[in-house]
Amino acid sequence: MRRVSFPATRMRRLRRTEALRGLVRETELSARQLVQPLFVVSGEGVREPVSSMPGIERFSISELVSEASELLAVGIRSVMIFGIPSSKDETASGAYDGEGIVQLGVRALKDAHPELTVITDVCLCGYTSHGHCGYIRDPELEGASVDNDLTLELLAKTAISHAEAGADAVAPSDMMDGRVGMIRHQLDEEGHPDVPIIAYSAKYASAFYGPFREAAESTPGFGDRRGYQMDPANAREALREVRLDVEEGADMVMVKPALPYLDVIRRVREETELPICAYQVSGEYSMIQAAAANGWLDARAAALESLTSIRRAGADLIVTYFAKQAAGWLS
Ligand code: PBG
Repeated sequence: MRRVSFPATRMRRLRRTEALRGLVRETELSARQLVQPLFVVSGEGVREPVSSMPGIERFSISELVSEASELLAVGIRSVMIFGIPSSKDETASGAYDGEGIVQLGVRALKDAHPELTVITDVCLCGYTSHGHCGYIRDPELEGASVDNDLTLELLAKTAISHAEAGADAVAPSDMMDGRVGMIRHQLDEEGHPDVPIIAYSAKYASAFYGPFREAAESTPGFGDRRGYQMDPANAREALREVRLDVEEGADMVMVKPALPYLDVIRRVREETELPICAYQVSGEYSMIQAAAANGWLDARAAALESLTSIRRAGADLIVTYFAKQAAGWLS
């Protein structure tokens, strides 16, 4: 039989054993880089499965604290907290209430586990009666839209209340213009110059947030979020968003969702030296879980492959609902 003799064609030489593959592997995935999102609700002893996200639960505060112990035990040292308030109103007052659900959750987590890094999502959509990410002057009027500048005030109040509760970092996910600068300024003024901002810089108006909106009860009552979230067709615009957030003082930038936007992660990687966070969103998680439940693919292999790809594209850290499971798989 004729042999291929060009040295450059022998790509398989370095793939022959796991030890060789390990030596030349370009991308590392470890629990250290993963952030587990957690949903917190009021009540006692609550652990409510989220039907659209198999394996994910909503926790009341004491359960949240015990879940955090389990996360730390498997090597997940960072969490991102989302609150489900018991009531909502037009000014999203639950978002910046010092005794609000996120604030209580953060305090309890930091009291019990000072070594846990607690990141909070700063947005109003879970707290407004209409479910939009900002303040709307006359939600009943046709064509009503979010008032950018009034929303900034409420977001800054929210971020400060999270910092006061002990949050290690705040992550504004609302996509209002100027929010990073506003939050940075107010955090500094209020004595929190050391709290970093993880800016959701390139957050797309995505269908993949569907399962999350059920978990967080944050589906908009009318319209959609295309007036403030990005058009999936645009990548250069993401670079502009990143540049602005960096100028305004972001400490990290985020791309969200992750897998459908790997090219955006790569381009942002080339644009900035700041750490890049990617958010593997609820729909990305639930797609894999649903296919696995049907026996159509292997959840472990598909999840680890997706996470590795997100790292390969250029993400330093990943917010993922697989964090806890992945930590187990990786150990
Ligand atoms: C709040 C927020 C959303 C997500 C994170 N923060 C929902 C949205 O913008 O509709 C989505 C997360 C996910 O789907 O996992 N604005």
